[in-house]
Amino acid sequence: MPQKVIIDCDPGIDDSLAIMLALSMPEEIEVVGITVAAGNAPVEMGYGNALKVLKFMGRLDVPVFMGADRPLKRDFVNALDTHGSDGLGESFLPQVPEEEYERQEMNAVQFMQETLQREPVSVIALGPMTNLAMLIEKAPSSFGKIQEIVSMGGTFRSHGNCSPVAEYNYWCDPDAAALVYGEMDRLGRKIHMVGLDVTRRIVLTPDLLDYMKRLDPHTGAFTQKITKFYFDFHWQWEHLIGCVINDPLAVAYFACRDLCKGFESYVQIETKGISLGQSIVDSMNFYRHAPNAIVLTEVDTIRFFELFFTRLLRMEEKPDLLPVLCR
Ligand code: BDR
Ligand code: CA
Repeated sequence: MPQKVIIDCDPGIDDSLAIMLALSMPEEIEVVGITVAAGNAPVEMGYGNALKVLKFMGRLDVPVFMGADRPLKRDFVNALDTHGSDGLGESFLPQVPEEEYERQEMNAVQFMQETLQREPVSVIALGPMTNLAMLIEKAPSSFGKIQEIVSMGGTFRSHGNCSPVAEYNYWCDPDAAALVYGEMDRLGRKIHMVGLDVTRRIVLTPDLLDYMKRLDPHTGAFTQKITKFYFDFHWQWEHLIGCVINDPLAVAYFACRDLCKGFESYVQIETKGISLGQSIVDSMNFYRHAPNAIVLTEVDTIRFFELFFTRLLRMEEKPDLLPVLCR
């Protein structure tokens, strides 16, 4: 039986690849809805991008819900410098016409609350956690019913990607991330932290992209269209040939737990000062505090790409060149 999931996101180039992957794993994952928050792109733009990806996947039946248009307390800082002026790598895909999908009346938080009152679902959080934090504020008992939270965010040993110590999703809305980690602590539960330590190992290189295009020109061309800007950004800022696709790893890990390894720890999120948004991982147990997180630190990169290729490109067999092309 597939597990029911809400994808909470800010599409976003890598969010889009993550949505595509999740929809390509029907045996493991049933996407009951996509909720969008302000993050990489302003929320209306992210909402439109989610629809564009669903249209490409032929899945406009999946409902999309507009969520928070800014962080809980801080000013909103988008990441269009990384994701392009349209939030989708300057692919400038046409907006999905209104008559092609059902516009939802409920907002993201109402949808989460209503769904959780009805049935247990998990949340794969791929953007700033503002929607989840608002759910805690509005309906804490519903939040408590979330089966599992897998969050792409934070960092343990790796450096940050928008300050020396902070990863974007937690840096963009540190108060939301702090609230979610705090609430998980209060509930005695653990969030799965798929942070930069592992996602930096997931690099879509030109060779891998070429391979994708050879194996499936349609999906390969779409992936190239939305990642070209991201490739250029990574070259300019990180001197990397390729792009780090963070968010699909959270989806892959949700379905295949042995893809990543890590350890349990107490984690707090800094909400002020020069360490704003940093995930403080008490790996040495200084605080003698029960863990509220599973912090992932190791990933099997080849297996990730095996999964990514076989599912996204609907292949029967593992693509044989991956062990050569992955680095
Ligand atoms: C995260 O921030 C965004 O740029 C990506 O979509 C990903 O969710 C990486 O720090
Ligand atoms: Ca994201």
